[in-house]
Amino acid sequence: MDPQLQAAAAGGPAAGAPFRTLPVQHSLDDPASPWVVVNKRRPITPAQFVPGDLVRPAVPLAVSGEAALLNRTTAAAAERLFAAASAAGAPMALASGYRSYATQTATYNSYAATRGTESADTASARPGYSEHQTGWAFDIADAGGACSFEPCFADQPAAVWVREHAHEFGFVVRYPWMLHETTGYFYEPWHLRYVGVEAATDMRARGIATLEEYFGTGVAPGYL
Ligand code: DAL
Ligand code: ZN
Repeated sequence: MDPQLQAAAAGGPAAGAPFRTLPVQHSLDDPASPWVVVNKRRPITPAQFVPGDLVRPAVPLAVSGEAALLNRTTAAAAERLFAAASAAGAPMALASGYRSYATQTATYNSYAATRGTESADTASARPGYSEHQTGWAFDIADAGGACSFEPCFADQPAAVWVREHAHEFGFVVRYPWMLHETTGYFYEPWHLRYVGVEAATDMRARGIATLEEYFGTGVAPGYL
């Protein structure tokens, strides 16, 4: 048996999960795996993980430096996604990509300082718990910048388009509307996560909106 499949099979809780039907399996635990499930119950291991293949995608950028980076696979998929969105009349920009453990610490602390810990935890991951640290996730903005990181972004052309088409490029909207009891976060119509075309398309076909349900890892409403 493939070592990664063997490792996943030993995991237990995911034994009957839908993803088992896909022909190629990946680890749910390795932060370098496209199927890694990171949430409030599943911290990144090791906590200081840094992707070994960070690159800058050739897409419109609303950020610079570290935040403009993604891992190589995600960057290539993002280039296809952004090009298709633009061709469809919904141009978008990369608003936040890779974040190191140190950057996530500053990001989370900033939220906590202005909103308090309880509110911060509904919107920002604590250091070591953010998908952004894996290189598999990024936030989009409308090319015109309208409603960036605001609830009204959900109605912008870029958000409407990705809800319908992200899976064709291997992405899911990771924190869907009203599923915070499963994901741990309120709706983020801007946060996309790469899982590969096969898994993203299968989730769509089955009507499964969260990685927690699809990969059978259990819900993650809060930290333990
Ligand atoms: N906003 C998402 C949950 C993060 O901080 O990773
Ligand atoms: Zn995000």
